This record gives sequence, structure tokens and C-alpha cells, in this order.
Amino acid sequence: MIPEIEKLLNEQIKYESKASAQYLSMASWADTRGFNGVAGFFYNQSEEERVHMTKLVKFINERSGSAVIPAIDKPRDDFNSLMELFETFLQSEEYVTAQINNVIFQCLEHKDYNVHNFMQWYVAEQLEEEAIARTLLDKLKIIGDDKSGHYLFDRDIHTFQVEEQAK
Ligand code: FEO
Repeated sequence: MIPEIEKLLNEQIKYESKASAQYLSMASWADTRGFNGVAGFFYNQSEEERVHMTKLVKFINERSGSAVIPAIDKPRDDFNSLMELFETFLQSEEYVTAQINNVIFQCLEHKDYNVHNFMQWYVAEQLEEEAIARTLLDKLKIIGDDKSGHYLFDRDIHTFQVEEQAK
């Protein structure tokens, strides 16, 4: 494996791990405030990010590189509102997308088409996750401070989850 690309993939492990910890923290925040639908959504997102991380670990090791499992900082847990929670979600996804785009750019620079091909799965995942984050944030902007709106948002996100899992 090209050393520069191996280094970038190892950095990507850290970003995915950070996202997983951040979403677990957000799930816990929602859980302790009665937003069970939102909590379920972020527990699930956290698990998905762990899958993204593990996929990278296996990929590096299978190609005679060495995956490094990083230490990560304590995730943020001080949110003032559902809006802030979902703003953090979108910012986190946008950040990860930027890092993935950088990996892809470097793959082309180094003519590493194997890793470039592998990373396409991440590009598709990011597109989907950013779209979900924007849609949910748009709904929260419409709802504003309306408490009954928050109740319905939480109920709807729970229904959305159940439908997604049934697919
Ligand atoms: Fe794997 Fe959504 O970053």
C-alpha cells in the first residue's frame, strides 16, 4: 500500500471513530430528554459510523498495511436544542465528506485506483447521510420552538427509522 495513502486511510479511521462517538453522545442526550425517536436515530447512526471505521481497518490490513486504532477526545454533549443537535450532525457529515474528497484526490494524484475504487462506497454513503441531515434540519427550522412540533418530529423520526429498517 502506498504509504501516503495508508496514512490518509488511517486518519479516516479516526474521523469515522469520532463521528461514531459523537453520535452516541447525541443519542444519549436525546434519550435522557425523552426524545426516543431521535435517540434511536443517533444510536443507529453511531453504529453505522463504526461499520465505516471497521471497513477501513479491514481494508488496510487486507492490503498489507497496518491499521491504527486511534484514541479520540470526549465527544460534545452540551446541546441546547434539537436544532443544535442536528446542526452538529450536518457539520460532522460535511467534515467527513471533505476528508473523503481529499483521500480521493490523493488517490488520483498517486494513481492508486484500487483505493479510489474502494472509496466510492464512502462517497455514496456521505451523499445519503448529508441529504438526511439537511432534510431533518429543514424540518426543525420550520418547527422552530414549538414543543408539540418537537414531539411530532420525534415520533416521525421513529416511524422513519422503523420503515428504513424494514427495507
Ligand atoms: Fe462515515 Fe457519515 O461518516
